Amino acid sequence: MPRKREDYFYRKAKKEGYRSRASYKLQQINAKYNVIRLGDTVVDLGAAPGGWLQVAKELSGGFVLGVDLQAIAPIEGVETLLGDITDPSTLQKIQGMIEKSEGADVVICDASPNLSGNWSLDHARSIDLCNSALSIATKILKPGGNFVVKVFQGDMFSDFLAVVKKHFSFAKAYGPQASRKESAEIYIIGKGFFRSRPAGHLS
Ligand SMILES: C[S@@+](CC[C@H](N)C(=O)[O-])C[C@H]1O[C@@H](n2cnc3c(N)ncnc32)[C@H](O)[C@@H]1O
Repeated sequence: MPRKREDYFYRKAKKEGYRSRASYKLQQINAKYNVIRLGDTVVDLGAAPGGWLQVAKELSGGFVLGVDLQAIAPIEGVETLLGDITDPSTLQKIQGMIEKSEGADVVICDASPNLSGNWSLDHARSIDLCNSALSIATKILKPGGNFVVKVFQGDMFSDFLAVVKKHFSFAKAYGPQASRKESAEIYIIGKGFFRSRPAGHLS
């Protein structure tokens, strides 16, 4: 049976001027975990078409940067960058663009691989994107910063959550109501970024 695309959140997004129904996922995540605060510098990885960027801009009012493989049509007050988050040169470009803010307060990532329909393959590709997002986050977040990342569930999920826990004082998985019931996606929320000590460090 074809998936019912035009559901409640799809229609709501159309009516309220959001570019995607995903906007409500970020709103729900933020209502529960308060990840984005007024004035925050926010970097959104895998941001096209821009539904999360619209919400991030509303919540922070500060510097908001969206990165994607695909071009993002302009959003007032939001910067965009065409780039692959798995490519190290993208990190350098992001660092250059947030230099004035001296880092990011929040990194959010809703990136999805092209879905093959093969659960294990899609899970593995999703974990690759999550690792790239976490790697960028650990290089650009200010101490105390927050992180949100989408993961397609599977057998590597708990290992990835354990890695996130090494970098954040709080880390938890959350499924917003706006996620489709049949979707394998879940979001990991990390709050309170800290740089983990190198192995062998005693004090
Ligand atoms: C579900 S969409 C994001 C929706 C967005 N949060 C919104 O609210 O409009 C997933 C995005 O991830 C992007 N993406 C996938 N792999 C990527 C990569 N390696 N680098 C950058 N973006 C990527 C895709 O191009 C796609 O636009």
